[in-house]
Amino acid sequence: MKIKEICPSVWYVGVNDRRTALFEGLWPIPGGVSYNSYIVEGSESIALIDSVHVAEGPELLDNISEVLGKGKVAWLVVNHMEPDHSGSISTMLSAFPDLKIVCNRQAAGMIGGFYKITDQERFHIVCDGDTLSLGDKTLKFTMTPMVHWPETMMTYLVEDKVLFSGDAFGTFGALNGAVIDEEMVVEPYFEEMYRYYSNIVGKYGTAVQKAFSKLQSVEISAICSTHGPVWKRDIKRALDITDRLSRYESEPGVTIVYGSMYGNTARAAEAVAEGLAEGGVKTIKIHDASVSPMSYMISDAFRYEGLVVGSPTYSMTLFPPINQFLEALKTREVRCKVFGAIGNHTWAPSPLPTLINAWAEEMKLPLLGMVKVRQAPDESTKEQVKELVDNMLGQLRR
Ligand code: FEO
Repeated sequence: MKIKEICPSVWYVGVNDRRTALFEGLWPIPGGVSYNSYIVEGSESIALIDSVHVAEGPELLDNISEVLGKGKVAWLVVNHMEPDHSGSISTMLSAFPDLKIVCNRQAAGMIGGFYKITDQERFHIVCDGDTLSLGDKTLKFTMTPMVHWPETMMTYLVEDKVLFSGDAFGTFGALNGAVIDEEMVVEPYFEEMYRYYSNIVGKYGTAVQKAFSKLQSVEISAICSTHGPVWKRDIKRALDITDRLSRYESEPGVTIVYGSMYGNTARAAEAVAEGLAEGGVKTIKIHDASVSPMSYMISDAFRYEGLVVGSPTYSMTLFPPINQFLEALKTREVRCKVFGAIGNHTWAPSPLPTLINAWAEEMKLPLLGMVKVRQAPDESTKEQVKELVDNMLGQLRR
């Protein structure tokens, strides 16, 4: 049991999901995912912070009874209503019939919609800055809308300085025995933090920054997110990564995403990569968009400073996987990239320069050059690649 004790009277009671292939039906999770839930035991009453996916409700109940024995949960704090955390609310109500749901007004409406729980007596509605006493423990609620849904809030355990942060600072990856960062190798989780943030929360950088400003003066001894490890030793690193990503601040490196039906756009993309490497760029991630999952392409595009997109002309427009990729970046309002492009066409005048220029303008990403290939790379391609690479190297950090 000790492995799950965050601090005196605070326990991890979450569950692992190693069966779901696609989180949200979209994002591959080969390492699984954890749905984190926590018990806070006060001298007068006990709170459960967030629940778990509907399929894991019985396991959550087992975990709670391991901690509490016959003890009763009085409060269920709902920080976030996405069903990976709210799915077992009904299971909790069946197990603890007197349970009060602690949430904001918007979450209460969603609980009615999702789970048909509408009896207002069931709810304890909280607003920004409200507190709830559990006796010798006090929960304080901070509204953090759009991190990741509009009803999202965070809960702070005042006496122990523990922040229950919802999706913020979460990662993909099920937990392998240990729960707290000090007791595991954290690198795989930090790698997945980039993918989790960019895929799930990526669109809401401004909201994340607002949440950061609200939390600025809050002393934190542990961050208990809804996914991945509890951060104690690595709080600063978790905060820094999320802060940078939400400001669209990149790391040195270049992501190249291309589509290629017969290898010619791919050859141009490889030539760009070679030129960048010769110029001293050490991190270059190359994705064939027909093969790489969108999840990983988005993550690298978020993470690294440079972005090169290559597309053949397909039915007089962009190659479909590239079109999807550019739309995904638009949805997430990706900014601040050192941006170049490769376009390929075979017969009619290509629409790609117009399309890619329009996308770049909308995204406010100055296009530093576009390699235009007709059918297959030739001598002129080499010159164009050199020009694009030189332009990018002029702006990239190494
Ligand atoms: Fe893990 Fe937005 O739910």
